[in-house]
Amino acid sequence: MICVPTTAGTGSEVTSVAVVTDEQQERKMVLASPLIGPDVAIVDPILTASLPRHMVAATGMDAFVHALESYTSINANPFTDSLALQSMKMLKEHLPASYAHSFNHESKEQVHIASTMAGVAFNAAGLGLVHACSHPMTALYKVPHGLANAIILPKVIDYNLIANKSKYADIARILKPELISCDDDSAASFLVEALEEFNKQLDIPRDFSYIEGVMPGDIDKLVHDALHDQLTIPLNPRKVNSHDVKQIYQKLLPQLNTDSVAYSN
Ligand SMILES: [Fe+2]
Repeated sequence: MICVPTTAGTGSEVTSVAVVTDEQQERKMVLASPLIGPDVAIVDPILTASLPRHMVAATGMDAFVHALESYTSINANPFTDSLALQSMKMLKEHLPASYAHSFNHESKEQVHIASTMAGVAFNAAGLGLVHACSHPMTALYKVPHGLANAIILPKVIDYNLIANKSKYADIARILKPELISCDDDSAASFLVEALEEFNKQLDIPRDFSYIEGVMPGDIDKLVHDALHDQLTIPLNPRKVNSHDVKQIYQKLLPQLNTDSVAYSN
């Protein structure tokens, strides 16, 4: 099997992971096996030259979340850490420029390589709660995968932060090099803000308040499906429970917390 990525995001060209959507049950299910791992990957950034800008942002943030979640996964190891850290550095440096102009070939190349490196990292180390919360958003409301990850990321990191301040501080220092002289506690405390600023550069919304047709009962399905995301939840650095996941979704979907919930028929 030869895989040729035409976006810089999924890392599927180097992973043994696939996602299957059950449209009737409105569920996304992750499938992982060495039998579906590619034999050859052809990683050529020229193939992303005509990608629409919003897809550059969404898929690029998917790659960033792969690197971040593999770095903080409980299955991380020094080999995956090195790939994940370098991938985040390259994406911080080049994703905004790649988003700004489709003819910035150097940035496109760096983003494309970073995406593949993040794929290698998460294929071995796994992912976490961002992906667990993201899959139901795509299945239920058709939010593109990378966009869902990017919006969810700051809220989940705010929740996860206490689990590994040292590693979250490393990520904060990548996004804000001026934090290099801060201790881990101080640097980590700036991470959520740094992620929000990074999203803002890419015109990523702060939450899912733009989604119409959200039903009050949706929250139970979202929480249930996130908690049953078997390949991500067990690897999250903080042990997850349904109450906490519900709170994260309530922050992401403010329309659930008001009387003005829009009903679809
Ligand atoms: Fe992903």
